[in-house]
Amino acid sequence: MIIDPSQQTYKENYKLMIGSIVPRPIAFVSSLSADGVRNLAPFSFFTGISTQPPTICFTSSRRASDGCRKDTLNNIEATGEFVVNMVSEDIVVPMNECATDFSPDVDEFEVAGLTPVASERVRPPRVGESPISFECKLYQTLSIGPEGAGGGTLIIGEIVLFHVRDDLFDERRRILMERFRPVGRLGGPEYTKIGERFKLERKKPPAGG
Ligand SMILES: Cc1cc2nc3c(=O)[nH]c(=O)nc-3n(C[C@H](O)[C@H](O)[C@H](O)COP(=O)(O)O)c2cc1C
Repeated sequence: MIIDPSQQTYKENYKLMIGSIVPRPIAFVSSLSADGVRNLAPFSFFTGISTQPPTICFTSSRRASDGCRKDTLNNIEATGEFVVNMVSEDIVVPMNECATDFSPDVDEFEVAGLTPVASERVRPPRVGESPISFECKLYQTLSIGPEGAGGGTLIIGEIVLFHVRDDLFDERRRILMERFRPVGRLGGPEYTKIGERFKLERKKPPAGG
């Protein structure tokens, strides 16, 4: 089947994208409002960009209900700081509780019963129960599409400090997946755990180019 996105609604395009771009890692983002209210929300349009400097990005879409911007984006633009907490099997339920559209004065750490741990280089706290967190400073934002439902803003952050739970590393400082136990997002309410794994070694380039 061939599908022209211009002939579909943005909701149909969204459905196709979240069912195709899978599994997606989840950035569980902590931020602070200009007034200092703690906020937590998950974002799965999320990936790494470069490593020098180490940068990540995620997208905050406009709310489907009213076309407004989300609290996370408002907070990051106001303060220039945030923390990306990785989602393991242990915190998937509280993570999901933070995906409800609470008003900006609600502390989502309290709603989810998660532990705010003071960050070292940024003001928003990290999630104590998360196995890996990245303290980030805002690098750049890029808005795409309408200033209403369907539009979104890409948020690029520079990682200024990594937190990795000690037991996640093997002797060569590689992350042990069986200890990390990350969760990925599929389409709709479906998630996935790490399943069967396999290795593929990359071939060396032929001699002489
Ligand atoms: C696993 C998961 C992934 C999500 N990914 C995104 C995303 O990539 N972009 C987005 O705008 N909303 C995403 N959401 C919805 C937001 O988390 C939700 O709108 C949240 O209430 C935003 O909170 P905020 O207003 O405090 O920023 C996701 C929700 C879940 C449960």
